[in-house]
Amino acid sequence: MITFNEKNNILKLDTPSSSYMIGIYNCGLLLNLYYGRRLPDNNVWPLSKRLQSASFSPCAPDVTDKEFSTDVAPMEYPVNGRGDFRLAALSVMNKDGNTVTDLRYVSHTIYKGKPDISPLPHLYTEDPAQCDTLEITTRDPYTGVEAVLIYSAFNDCDVITKHVLIKNNGENSVSLRRALSLCVDLPTMDFDLITLYGRHVKERQLERRPLAHGLQGIHSKRGASSHSHNPFAALAETGATEEHGDVYGFNLVYSGNFEIGVECDHDATTRLVMGIDPTDFAWHLSPGESFRTPEAVMVFSNEGLGGMSRTFHRAYRTHLIRGRYKTEKRPLLINSWEAAYFDFDTDKLISFAARAKELGIEMLVMDDGWFGKRNDDTTSLGDWFVNTEKLDLARLVNSVHEMGLKFGIWYEPEMISPESELFRAHPDWCVHVPGRTPSIARQQYVLDISRADVRENIFGQMCAILKKHKIDYLKWDFNRNISEAGSALLPPERAQEFFHRFIMGTYDLLNRLTTEFPDMLVEGCSGGGGRFDAGALYFTPQIWTSDNTDPIERLMIQFGTSMCYPASAMGAHVSACDRTGYRTKGDVALWGTFGYELDPNKLSPEEKEIVKTQVAEYHKYYDLIRNGDLYRLICPWDDAFRSAWSFVSGDKNECLVTVVEMRKVQDAVFHLKLRGLDPGKYYINEADGETYSGALLMYAGVDLTQKLAGDGKSLKLYFRAK
Ligand code: GLA
Repeated sequence: MITFNEKNNILKLDTPSSSYMIGIYNCGLLLNLYYGRRLPDNNVWPLSKRLQSASFSPCAPDVTDKEFSTDVAPMEYPVNGRGDFRLAALSVMNKDGNTVTDLRYVSHTIYKGKPDISPLPHLYTEDPAQCDTLEITTRDPYTGVEAVLIYSAFNDCDVITKHVLIKNNGENSVSLRRALSLCVDLPTMDFDLITLYGRHVKERQLERRPLAHGLQGIHSKRGASSHSHNPFAALAETGATEEHGDVYGFNLVYSGNFEIGVECDHDATTRLVMGIDPTDFAWHLSPGESFRTPEAVMVFSNEGLGGMSRTFHRAYRTHLIRGRYKTEKRPLLINSWEAAYFDFDTDKLISFAARAKELGIEMLVMDDGWFGKRNDDTTSLGDWFVNTEKLDLARLVNSVHEMGLKFGIWYEPEMISPESELFRAHPDWCVHVPGRTPSIARQQYVLDISRADVRENIFGQMCAILKKHKIDYLKWDFNRNISEAGSALLPPERAQEFFHRFIMGTYDLLNRLTTEFPDMLVEGCSGGGGRFDAGALYFTPQIWTSDNTDPIERLMIQFGTSMCYPASAMGAHVSACDRTGYRTKGDVALWGTFGYELDPNKLSPEEKEIVKTQVAEYHKYYDLIRNGDLYRLICPWDDAFRSAWSFVSGDKNECLVTVVEMRKVQDAVFHLKLRGLDPGKYYINEADGETYSGALLMYAGVDLTQKLAGDGKSLKLYFRAK
């Protein structure tokens, strides 16, 4: 719900349990007055002690309150060069060459529903009643630039989205130097900043640090959201835990370069800004042109990090993930990569499918190596035609379908190998800048997907395969970062637009693909989880979480990923890796989309029986894991020995608990307290038929003393209400 208190000039956005208040102050300056637990009040001016300026603080000459300064005030969308010395959200270089920017309130509108901001990915509603939207138009009197701040407050979850539409309504061209999506200004710095750092095969490791005065934050200028940092951050009040305390979560619906900057000032307040990374960014706006920032998502929870994550999960399942596989059951797959790498032919893949079928697996995915002359990673990206020396695709697809399995294929559409027909024909189609030979990574260049003609070529090549053969699934990979960022088509004044144009090119291709082939399941990937973000999730309902399939290391990765992203998004496979037995591998992979990445011909009879049991469990727990609420019971960063998590159904009638012993523990007593159950209900433990109250399971816990059998072993418990 969004309301306007005309008397006090306060705009208030309410979600079921949170409120966000914006004040229209003297001369139309917009202030970020409150964000937190839901308030019944529609006026918080009496609380606002932050308008008292310091002796050095400048004040715009027209502001009649001479005590006021943007130096100390909580600014709703802070600008550069007008007395606010903290991180700016907007900086516009004008015709005079300076970046002094000023924004004043002009008008606002409130309406039901949420605008469609395609081609940018965004949260959506299926019914306008699910959400209300506020658009505040602000204007810079000197340049004529307008910034329309667009917020949507959801009525079914504690989510507020925000993005900004910047229009050049002036008479001269301007250049955007910073155009961020979000700013929150909170009146304390008693927070820990939580972010997800990583690298290839070690994505989304949780890091928690107390805020300090000055700048802190994360960014990516790699051309992708990246393995290194995820476009997610949380501010958790000091002492907040998994289940208690105030937590603010922020996530950018964007797959390109991003910045999340936090600054604590001399008054011990906290400003967090989020949006496109300004490092290699500028956007030229001629008169009449406009620029829309990506959408930012804010979640407030007073139920700790767990409450924040569950809100993100519900919101993304309901309002972000789209298409047939939003609700339809996803096929249980086997992928050829770790089973064969580049070493396969038609018969080998048919044999994988035949064995997989016997085990109950539902889809064969042919990974990298089927096209051009690709027998290793040195060639052929860009040559998306079948390597007929290696493969008879029609025979393969038909055989797999005749067995009753679905068939999937791998692409890396945004790349080009120097050793390819495409590169020989179009050397200027690779991402490059004049006068410098492009750097190489994994033997490949990046294809300039910002160009419409390049996209046309790649889409045409993809369609030739996808229309000829019945392809049920496509894995979309992206296996290097972007250096020498530039496009042959961009003039110098637009050269810095490249990174954003690139990712918009990717979104355009993904949009065309999912529109043309609505029944095909598309899985995102970037050397594992290098582009695991909400922007990608809008197009690809599942994303390969990491190339690391070791179940113990996966725990850290999956716990970290779950801060923001739901189980249904996390690609997770059982592989032939050495550590732990197949049971633990299966129990860890069950958290995600579930599948296999191994040669099924090499499984022993005992292992095959375990796989059959896992396939049955996949079906049994499918809805509970996909639609249930996640409780991180013991996080691997809090305990060196065990991890535990559970899924509880929305009606609180079902609960699946998984515990993994990462290292053998000698402790005599281990009671695991469950969460999220109904204390008044009685639950049967499926394993022994015993009945316990929800209260007992949560407040006393389940006695697991000596129930785990040692290093790398796991245990599942399933409770159903009577
Ligand atoms: C990336 C992916 C892998 C696999 C390879 C193929 O690394 O993450 O799953 O598809 O590429 O080259």
